[in-house]
Amino acid sequence: GAPVRVDISRLEPGQLLTVEWRGKPVWLFRRSPEIIADLASLNDQLRDPLSKQASQQPQYAQNETRAIRDDLMVMVGICTHLGCSPTFRPELAPADLGANWKGGFFCPCHGSRFDLAGRVFQGVPAPTNLEVPPYHFLGDDVVIVG
Ligand code: FES
Repeated sequence: GAPVRVDISRLEPGQLLTVEWRGKPVWLFRRSPEIIADLASLNDQLRDPLSKQASQQPQYAQNETRAIRDDLMVMVGICTHLGCSPTFRPELAPADLGANWKGGFFCPCHGSRFDLAGRVFQGVPAPTNLEVPPYHFLGDDVVIVG
């Protein structure tokens, strides 16, 4: 499939934009400084906090925020368990998501949870972090996915 060009100039912190690439939903999520600062505090609850599993992201996103730029998370919106589409759950601490929930994605099929870097929590069926597709920036406000 062809690369997809996405204008992120109007994407505010906390907002999620979905585009389609190769028939898959790709999420672009704008992270605030608070969200970025919270990521490390989740590490001990996650299965692969440092994204060691190389198949789940390009090398340029194999870092603490899983991104080229900390303020923009790009990921494929397909659960790594059996392929359902997780729902965006930015709100704090709904009872079924646990007391330490800081926002993320919840898969309704079998309850897998992912944080705002697409990192999977421990104790859920999904084996790996959400996939990060290949992407790059064209200037500050345009992302090319693919
Ligand atoms: Fe998402 Fe099973 S498909 S938890």
